[in-house]
Formats: sequence, C-alpha cells, structure tokens
Amino acid sequence: MSEDKPTIQQRNNGPLVVKNLSSFRLADGSRGETKPVMALCRCGASKNKPFCDGSHQKIGFDSAGADVSSRDRIYSYEGKEATVYYNKLLCSHAGECGARALPIFNPKQKPWVQPNAGTAAQVKDVVEACPSGALRYSLPGEEAQTLADSDAAIAVERDGPLRVKNIAMRADHWAEGQSEQKYVLCRCGKSKNKPFCDGTHSDDGWKENS
Ligand code: FES
Repeated sequence: MSEDKPTIQQRNNGPLVVKNLSSFRLADGSRGETKPVMALCRCGASKNKPFCDGSHQKIGFDSAGADVSSRDRIYSYEGKEATVYYNKLLCSHAGECGARALPIFNPKQKPWVQPNAGTAAQVKDVVEACPSGALRYSLPGEEAQTLADSDAAIAVERDGPLRVKNIAMRADHWAEGQSEQKYVLCRCGKSKNKPFCDGTHSDDGWKENS
C-alpha cells in the first residue's frame, strides 16, 4: 500500500483522477479494487461506471460549472441545545436528515430545520450521517463543525455522487462552510457547481445504468 496521501485531480472536460486511494466502496456497498491511479467518470456517459471509458470525448463533456454564487449561502437555525447550519448549494439530497430525525429536518415545515424538535444528540447523528457536508452544527458557544471520521475514503453512491472524505482536491471555488473533511462530487455531469454535486441528479431522476 502506498504511503502517499490520496489526492483527486480534475481533468479538464474529462474524468476525476484519483491517486493513492486505499478505501473505495462501490455502489453496491462492496469494497472496490484500487489502483495507484484511477480515472473516475464524471460526465455520466461511461459504460464502465464508476470508471472513465473515454465517453466524455464522444459526448463533448464540458466540465465547467456555472456561476452559482447567488446560491452559495449558509442558513442557520438556532436551537437551545444545538444550532444547525445548512448550505443548500452543497446538498446532494441523500435524505439522511429526514430519515433519521424527521421532526427536526422536515421540508414540509417552516423553517424546514427545527433543532428544538429533538435533542442535540439527534442533530449530531444527522450531521455525521450527511454525506455532502451541507449540514453542520454547533453547540452553544462553539464553532460550527463538519462531522466526519478521519479516514480518507471514496464511496460511490448508487445513482448519485462520489462521497469523499479527507482527500485533498484543488478546485477553483469551495463553497461557504465546505470542507475537505467531507464533500460530494458530481457523477452525472449535470451539476451547475462542478466538480461538486448540487443535487441535480436527484431532481432529474438520473440513473447510472440507463
Ligand atoms: S468522464 Fe470519461 S467517460 Fe465520463
């Protein structure tokens, strides 16, 4: 196993090139074989996902994002025991929040986050489980935290983005509150916030094998 730290590089109008990765999970949850250098598809067109098969050239993939600065904003929801911070631009719609603590995180209520509808422990559990880093939290008097373990890893989400933890990647712009501790990278090719996922795969019902 290489001692070098893993990195991710964006190939212009092409794949994400991952080096020195040792922890890789495929969409079915199984452990993926790793190589010192791997090219992962981010155009959505490869027939060999999650790997690049050169299809980006055929479809003329454009890896540039759009101007998303107006969507890059943190909303905070203060509670007695915990405050929640949310940057919608980063949300990949994994749904861990509603599945784990619906009284606190319910899109049908206004505001959609109500920290006082549960405990600080429930908020922490959700923030830990949120794969995108769109949700952070703080306890009274403390700084906002992105909660992630310290493993450097990539997991492929079925019909969704790459879930990345603790891997360095150079990008033109990191959003407000975003951290290398935990972020999600677009695989469908449709995000306006490339290389990051902005939830478009979910809005569009993207299926990786169709
Ligand atoms: S990025 Fe190369 S096939 Fe999708």
